[in-house]
Amino acid sequence: MRVYKFDEIDSTNKFLKEKLDLEERDLAIAKIQTAGRGRRGNKWISSEGAALFSFVLKYDPSIPDNEYMKLSLVVGYSLLKTMQKIEPLDYKFKWTNDLYLEDKKLSGILIEKIGNYIIIGIGININNLEFGEAKDIAISLKTKTGKNYNLESIIENVVNSFFEDFSKFKNGNWKEMLKEINNINYLYGKRIDIVGISKEESGIAGDILEDGRLEVFVGNEIKKYNIGEIHISKK
Ligand code: BTN
Repeated sequence: MRVYKFDEIDSTNKFLKEKLDLEERDLAIAKIQTAGRGRRGNKWISSEGAALFSFVLKYDPSIPDNEYMKLSLVVGYSLLKTMQKIEPLDYKFKWTNDLYLEDKKLSGILIEKIGNYIIIGIGININNLEFGEAKDIAISLKTKTGKNYNLESIIENVVNSFFEDFSKFKNGNWKEMLKEINNINYLYGKRIDIVGISKEESGIAGDILEDGRLEVFVGNEIKKYNIGEIHISKK
């Protein structure tokens, strides 16, 4: 595994995306990101104390695309398992791949494909206590426990767990993983708005389904979503 460590960089995802000679498991770690990126063009506030890293998975063309749709859930599952080992707290899994703690975001994942490689970028609020403009919606492990954690050891654990879990996933253990994430499904039973699709919808979230989609009860209909951004409804 080649590890690239930065005191400060714009974005670890961007660094790997622009790197010409990628290898599976290449890992970029930053103490601070000046232009941390989230999904759907959002910013990711990246202050010191957070675990900020990206790593490379080689795209395997023999795996069907519908299986890759579940990748973000597998990454979220590995993150959850690692965090449970570090601190057994009441984490929730917010489809498609955020980890929540006490109704606030602990971690986010940004997956991007470049050529034959997939860049998996993860931000976990660990020792940081400042969240800037995200202060009302973010939480860190230290906010909850008051403790300081070894960031590099957490990062190493997440990456190693992911490669183990991804092998298990390819070997047919998906149902077990899905069961665990459905057990702590943050959205279950909540009224949600699905934005970012052509027609905005609102309904009550159900389970994460076997194909990775989210079941939503919209009026008398059961709908299934695999794209879009979920917001808890304010209505
Ligand atoms: C999200 O919740 O929108 C995804 C956030 C992903 C943030 C991480 S931090 C490390 C890596 N580099 C980035 O620029 N983004 C990801």
